[in-house]
Amino acid sequence: MDLTQPHDFLIRCVNCGYFPLTPAEENRTTCPNCGFLYELTEKSIKYDYKKLLSTHFPRDYPLYYVLNNNGLLSYLFWPEASISLTDRKDVMHFRDYVVAHYRKGNILDIGCGPMEIPGYLNFKDDESAFYGLDPLEESKFFGFLIKGCAEFIPFPDNFFSTIIFATSLDHLCSLKDTIKEIRRILIPGGVVIIWSSDVGNPILWKIRTFYGRLFTTFKTGTNAFRYLLANDNSVYLIPPGAVDPFHKTILTPKKIIKSFQLKGFESHNCTRNLNSDTFLTLRNTK
Ligand SMILES: C[S@@+](CC[C@H](N)C(=O)[O-])C[C@H]1O[C@@H](n2cnc3c(N)ncnc32)[C@H](O)[C@@H]1O
Ligand SMILES: [Zn+2]
Repeated sequence: MDLTQPHDFLIRCVNCGYFPLTPAEENRTTCPNCGFLYELTEKSIKYDYKKLLSTHFPRDYPLYYVLNNNGLLSYLFWPEASISLTDRKDVMHFRDYVVAHYRKGNILDIGCGPMEIPGYLNFKDDESAFYGLDPLEESKFFGFLIKGCAEFIPFPDNFFSTIIFATSLDHLCSLKDTIKEIRRILIPGGVVIIWSSDVGNPILWKIRTFYGRLFTTFKTGTNAFRYLLANDNSVYLIPPGAVDPFHKTILTPKKIIKSFQLKGFESHNCTRNLNSDTFLTLRNTK
């Protein structure tokens, strides 16, 4: 793995699509067409993704933001359940799956999280360049880091050969706009590799969850429909409109495949893994 990849791409404006932007000053650049601002370092780019998401998705943005706040707390207090530590069996399975299905070239990990090297990227490849994208201020990603959001990505068309979502596809503000955006930045024949949770039948899951929460409420006295009490006794609010403290909806592999197929991807592989999750590979047919 090459840890010293240079900043080696031309910026496409996330606000208006203007291309290419050239750095005007050493560590910042402004779009000459719309005035949108980018902060740059050798290894990162940052832009005001909150402004973009709140303007384009005013109805979804507040709940999305609250759920992400809960996520942030869980990375601090409950990392073994929420991020891809290398000693987790499921993480190693996903790493092996990525190695078997990815295409070398420019690799983008969307929702790369706070870790320097997420366990599933812990493999050797000196030929590819690794990029991580996450809104998290705290991310320490080893490759080039985009502090932004999947719905608006400041890269030119046909730039990446592989895009990875490791338990991040169900954390987005807009799945529809994200799929549109990744189709644009993926090369023809490029692949999307997804690690998704898989609850099986979502109606049965809802019934099971309802009775599970009812039972917990009677047993512990804590309202389990409103609060999730974690193993370490930290508490997460389940906001109205969400299925749990971190997710707005349940995304099933079937729904994911359908959403991608509608936007011009074909399903290439679907492998069920441990702990009720599924690995998927989709190919860009453009
Ligand atoms: C469950 S974590 C997974 C992190 C990492 N992939 C791992 O497995 O350790 C989901 C990640 O999605 C990120 N995320 C939330 N909204 C996003 C968005 N709009 N675009 C890209 N990533 C987003 C969160 O900040 C978080 O780091
Ligand atoms: Zn612009």
